Amino acid sequence: MNANKALWEKGDFTRLAATIRDSGEELVDTLGIREGMDVLDLGCGDGTTALPEAERGANVLGVDIASNLVAAGRARAAAAGLDNVRFQEGDASDLRDLADESFDLVVSIFGAMFAPRPVDVAREMVRVTRPAGRIVMGNWIPGDPTLVAQILKISASYTPPPPEGFVSPVTWGIRQEVEKRFAAASVDPFAIDCQRATYTFRYPGPPEDFVALFRNYYGPTMNAFEAATANGQEDELLAELNQLFIEQNKGGAARTEIPATYLKVTVQL
Ligand SMILES: C[S@@+](CC[C@H](N)C(=O)[O-])C[C@H]1O[C@@H](n2cnc3c(N)ncnc32)[C@H](O)[C@@H]1O
Repeated sequence: MNANKALWEKGDFTRLAATIRDSGEELVDTLGIREGMDVLDLGCGDGTTALPEAERGANVLGVDIASNLVAAGRARAAAAGLDNVRFQEGDASDLRDLADESFDLVVSIFGAMFAPRPVDVAREMVRVTRPAGRIVMGNWIPGDPTLVAQILKISASYTPPPPEGFVSPVTWGIRQEVEKRFAAASVDPFAIDCQRATYTFRYPGPPEDFVALFRNYYGPTMNAFEAATANGQEDELLAELNQLFIEQNKGGAARTEIPATYLKVTVQL
């Protein structure tokens, strides 16, 4: 069994993705997409950034490890009448189906960071990017006080320790790690720009209902609740998450708006 694939197929990330569509659009506006550009969106989910990339004229390939999200991406593209975005299943740490130097831009927003073997991920992203092309990653930052880093931290504290050799996804949010991984793919650190940026989650209900969405549909939180329930700690986990979401909410009592900080990594080849 591929635990990485099972984790993301377990839930239904489309339910969470619905709360970040505006941020996806805003991010894509910063990417300098031009008509006819070849774009790979890696760990694309149901196309939060892949669809806006296609709407701006790029030829987009979305690759994701979760078959349910690939299907959801195809359905969203068809509903939007887009014929310049395709979705296929694949693993960011092994893109064997994709030819060398075949994309002008590789985008991975909170996607490739979840793949195992980060050095392989960096190498594969560099391999499929054309000379003078770009790679843009969005990565959650370990220890950051904002929403997603804290959800992952709280979830991990209720879940059994990962297998030996497991590299935490949020290490992609540390500049030195990013540089080391790309250096192994022969990328000069001067070609890498790292900036803090914000993604905002918007949910049309109170924060406690938004927590329920994570509990029911977000793989890492679902696993944490399963482990917490087995240990009789379900109420503690729920209380911790409710407190986090309420504290971070800027949307008032009836709706939720939570900004979360991430590391935006741009690699210019
Ligand atoms: C937090 S979601 C982000 C999805 C999308 N980029 C978005 O912004 O809505 C993480 C995504 O990464 C995908 N993923 C996780 N591990 C992967 C891997 N090894 N290769 C490709 N995709 C992966 C998951 O299936 C999921 O769709």
